[in-house]
Amino acid sequence: MSDVQEQPAAPAAEGEAAPDFVGPVNEGAVDQVDSTYAPSVGGTETTSLKSAITKYREENGRTYHSYGSTEHWGPNDEKAQDQQDLSHHLWTLSLKGDFFLSPVKDPVKILDVGTGTGIWVIEVAEQFPQAEVTGTDVSPIQPGWVPPNAFFEIDDFNVEWLDENKFDLVHARELLGTCPDWPALYRRAFRAIKPGGWFEQHEPGLFFLSDHVEFGEDSPYVQWNTTMYDAGIKSGMRFDIGDKIKGRMEEAGFINVTEYRIPWLVGGWSKDEHQRKIGQWNQLRLDIGIADFCSRRFTNHLGFTPEQVEVFCAGMRNSFRDKKLYSYIWAYFVYGQKPEE
Ligand SMILES: C[S@@+](CC[C@H](N)C(=O)[O-])C[C@H]1O[C@@H](n2cnc3c(N)ncnc32)[C@H](O)[C@@H]1O
Repeated sequence: MSDVQEQPAAPAAEGEAAPDFVGPVNEGAVDQVDSTYAPSVGGTETTSLKSAITKYREENGRTYHSYGSTEHWGPNDEKAQDQQDLSHHLWTLSLKGDFFLSPVKDPVKILDVGTGTGIWVIEVAEQFPQAEVTGTDVSPIQPGWVPPNAFFEIDDFNVEWLDENKFDLVHARELLGTCPDWPALYRRAFRAIKPGGWFEQHEPGLFFLSDHVEFGEDSPYVQWNTTMYDAGIKSGMRFDIGDKIKGRMEEAGFINVTEYRIPWLVGGWSKDEHQRKIGQWNQLRLDIGIADFCSRRFTNHLGFTPEQVEVFCAGMRNSFRDKKLYSYIWAYFVYGQKPEE
């Protein structure tokens, strides 16, 4: 099962039949149960670092993390957190309610690196009350009251991980543009996972595409596709990673690596109900998030002024609203297993 699974056809435009493009659901899922909430517990290390890590950096009216070896592109303020929680809905909608695809049975320890607001950790902890589910991030933005089996720690995934043969599942989502050395990160994850355990990563593609229209040279989409690509190169942390995950995981030693990609439409232009919903949520996510995604990289690495970023984002939002562009991006879902021996 190491081949790329059957890919969906191009997204269906109005009037066309839409493919059923979502892969198998997670076999290890158990019934959701009520859980008694408790304060999240951090280590002593977390406590002592607290004052340093909450001294956020401020740039152009937004706040950014201060801890860690690399500079994340996204703000960590309330607006950014709302956008992350909204994106979580799009990710789970894409998997028809599931949180991951790896066939993990009765997990004991689960890790989510770069957890953000921790919403994935909280919901997975509720789904698997017998498991200890830990989220790590460089920003301490996770809530204090969480299920008793959910934990958060401040940790930088770009430096060595201490864990070895520990986790049934390590999950990573939307970490594009945050890692200068992906092969090293996959090696760290491989070491941290139990023999027979799983690694799973979900990433949006970088490029806006259309199968029905050719974007003009002055299209904001064309500008996005080139400037974000350049920003990734200049910052040393590329955004175009989705189609490279599978190969890199295999190089790190994972087996049974499976890749799905599904189109995330921009706007509700499909006749298919599921695709239309995905398109509407994706448009909302992009509308709210576009400035978060590009501002820091464009100003710090490409010489844009904040005003130029604003104008650019306004142009992008116009494109998101234009249903006649039939635009979409790919979303990648990749999972693989550490061999038993
Ligand atoms: C786009 S957000 C995605 C959040 C979450 N994974 C989700 O899908 O909802 C990326 C997250 O990665 C975190 N991050 C970036 N660089 C990191 C690093 N070196 N170590 C740990 N977390 C990092 C950011 O702080 C941010 O919360």
